[in-house]
Amino acid sequence: MQNSNSTKTQVGIIGAGPAGLLLARILQLNGIESVILERRSRAYVLDRVRAGVLEQGSVDTLIQYGAGERLLRESLPHESFQLRWDGRSHEVPVVDADGRRLTTYGQAKIVEDLILLREADGLPIVFEAEVKHIEGLHDQPSIIYVQNENGVKKTLHCDYVAGCDGFLGASRAHIPDADKKSFLKEYPFAWFGILAEAPPKDEIRGFAHSRRGMAVASARSSTVSRHYLQVDPDFDMGTMTDEQIWDELDRRFDDGSGIKMNRGPIIEKSVARLRGFVCEAVQYGKLFLAGDACHIVPPSGAKGLNLAVGDVRVLAETLQRLIKKNDDSLVGRYTELLLRRIWPTVHWSCSMSEALHMFPGQTEFETRMQYNMLNSWANTATGQAYFRNAMLGLPFEI
Ligand code: APR
Repeated sequence: MQNSNSTKTQVGIIGAGPAGLLLARILQLNGIESVILERRSRAYVLDRVRAGVLEQGSVDTLIQYGAGERLLRESLPHESFQLRWDGRSHEVPVVDADGRRLTTYGQAKIVEDLILLREADGLPIVFEAEVKHIEGLHDQPSIIYVQNENGVKKTLHCDYVAGCDGFLGASRAHIPDADKKSFLKEYPFAWFGILAEAPPKDEIRGFAHSRRGMAVASARSSTVSRHYLQVDPDFDMGTMTDEQIWDELDRRFDDGSGIKMNRGPIIEKSVARLRGFVCEAVQYGKLFLAGDACHIVPPSGAKGLNLAVGDVRVLAETLQRLIKKNDDSLVGRYTELLLRRIWPTVHWSCSMSEALHMFPGQTEFETRMQYNMLNSWANTATGQAYFRNAMLGLPFEI
């Protein structure tokens, strides 16, 4: 018996970020019902500015599940990646023999595309619904949540729960400490990110190592730039005027060519700590984690969203076999399959962080080690192949 405070579905998905939305889409196209519970408002979710570099596998997955129409129209393909250090810039080819390449397309657009598709099909995303706890993970799961506008407790009964609620979500805590090993690395710096209505300049993009700190120049579209400055973890955004931000970016990207960035109104600013995190237990009873709920990569590898896509492909297949064939063959392998992509991807993202940032008290010797690493990636055949394969990402096993 269902009433307005209690509903039933096959898969309860916690979180309307890329992981939760993509999972719901894949399940839907395979005839499996789900309900997404999202604690933030629709407007908040759509406004969040996040990652923007997609591996070929992520692009192909979005197209495969009918969410690639605007992506194909508006995304920007990359032929090479630019690395700068010691005042010089280097182009590193990132297209492989199979034509795999990186593509820029903002995560906010992916989230919007998936939300609009779900709404067009009249399927439920419950916004402003904060999940408080989950019961019955070993028999009949119930997700208890509170809808912000009235604070009324509600229950979503489901056959399986997908914890796609990010690093600060509620689901990971439902795996007992005795059953999970977590690994965390906090970096002693943060990224101060800006979004600007300034056309990206092709001559200035990618990552710059500089003695003043790392800087990143990237495009969100042909008219919008997304740039970052390495700052201290406790950096106060109010301490820099827009002009000072642009001046600092130009200093860090200076390669002697005199070329400066295009400037324009800065429409969004944010500061994010850099950390690497892996939870080695991603399934407990009928709860399956995917995306940032089980891993965090420092943004220097541009891998967070791409890792989430890989997790979701495995989770969707695992749930389809369980629900449609009563086949639990992937349940016991779920953790192993996810970790086979997570750890190498976390390692790559941390390698990029350690080669590109200035660390407190760094010695000249350590700086030379960074130069050598960057030079190997940019100017040696083996280094270029390693960099290209790492940036293009591991192939999907499922
Ligand atoms: N109840 C309901 N929703 C929740 C709860 C909760 N208790 N806790 C968190 N959420 C929601 C958040 O509001 C967010 O919308 O879960 C969603 C998690 O989305 P993301 O954090 O975007 O995580 P994920 O979908 O795994 O995508 C990973 O997002 O954060 C970036 O860099 C990351 O690019 C990567 C991508």
